[in-house]
Amino acid sequence: MKKIKLGVIFGGMSTENEVSVLSAKSVLANLNRNKYEIYPIYIAKDGSWYEYKEKPQEKIENVMQYLQNLDIVFPVLHGLYGEDGTIQGLFELLKKPYIGCGVLASAIGMDKVYTKIVFEKAGLKQANYNYIRKNNKDYVYIHKNWDEEIFTLKQVAKKIATNLKFPMFIKPSNSGSSVGVNKASNLDELEEYIQNASQFDNKILIEEAIIGKEVECAVLGTQDVIASCVGEVKSAEEFYSYDAKYNNTESKTQIPADIPEKIANEIRNQAIKAFKAIDGKGLSRVDFFVEKDTNEIYINEINTLPGFTNISMYPKLFEESGISYMQLLDKIIDSNI
Ligand SMILES: Nc1ncnc2c1ncn2[C@@H]1O[C@H](COP(=O)(O)OP(=O)(O)O)[C@@H](O)[C@H]1O
Ligand SMILES: [Mg+2]
Repeated sequence: MKKIKLGVIFGGMSTENEVSVLSAKSVLANLNRNKYEIYPIYIAKDGSWYEYKEKPQEKIENVMQYLQNLDIVFPVLHGLYGEDGTIQGLFELLKKPYIGCGVLASAIGMDKVYTKIVFEKAGLKQANYNYIRKNNKDYVYIHKNWDEEIFTLKQVAKKIATNLKFPMFIKPSNSGSSVGVNKASNLDELEEYIQNASQFDNKILIEEAIIGKEVECAVLGTQDVIASCVGEVKSAEEFYSYDAKYNNTESKTQIPADIPEKIANEIRNQAIKAFKAIDGKGLSRVDFFVEKDTNEIYINEINTLPGFTNISMYPKLFEESGISYMQLLDKIIDSNI
């Protein structure tokens, strides 16, 4: 059988460049060499592309032409310009098959405000939230019917504090790996963290904190979507910050999560529903909170290109469900051909 020419694209122009390199290393180590002829491609932070096959790495001068040579591409990229629909748009223009979600699903999944709107429509329960936009020195408060009101920082924080209960999470709408995400316990912190989040994106989401377990479920497929078992994230810090995710070795994952079977099944159903609601394809990891005492499920977000290192939740969840890393890659690739 002729081998499939598979481009594995990693690195990228986002804050998650390094994480992507780690994900790609695992992917490259686990791909079935009998099945695929592999073309590793590195995108540097400045946006230049390199062929990673032989050393020294060769700069790819004509990206479009290079991609035309491949049968299919796997963007192992996280964050902006990789997980947000932009690179998927390039593949669409080239009519090049690619792995994972399309332009729309990627764009929705990357934007926390729009994710919330779609989840709301799908009847998925989530934390109460407000949406504001930075506008020069001021902030535009966006009502649920999209009417706008302009406030100063102090005024907007006060307004939010009348709508939502502390503690609150403040997040740039487009971000990942917890960059720019903070937890505020009072009005002063709320102001500070709104200002901080506005450095990463002018769209800002503020939501009530859910006290409980943080759990994740992996989904796979396009027509017939399956969900993995549910895993739990045990952050070593107050919340799962960038540091807790990548630097603090005390952060742990527990698979399966210590939650009742009934709740786990409900989470699996909701994960598939959320994936379908954003028009997902191929793969995603869907993150939830299970509230302490009530066991109420709140959906948090969907990651259309989740972490893929050997110790990442996505492959580990399927491993526990009986699908090895190598089989998982085959299934993901097959579901997109
Ligand atoms: N509403 C919330 N309640 C409790 N914890 C939250 C909430 N929102 C975010 N967090 C914490 O902040 C972390 C990062 O937020 P998240 O929305 O997942 O952003 P990212 O896309 O950067 O992962 C979560 O993993 C969780 O620990
Ligand atoms: Mg997250």
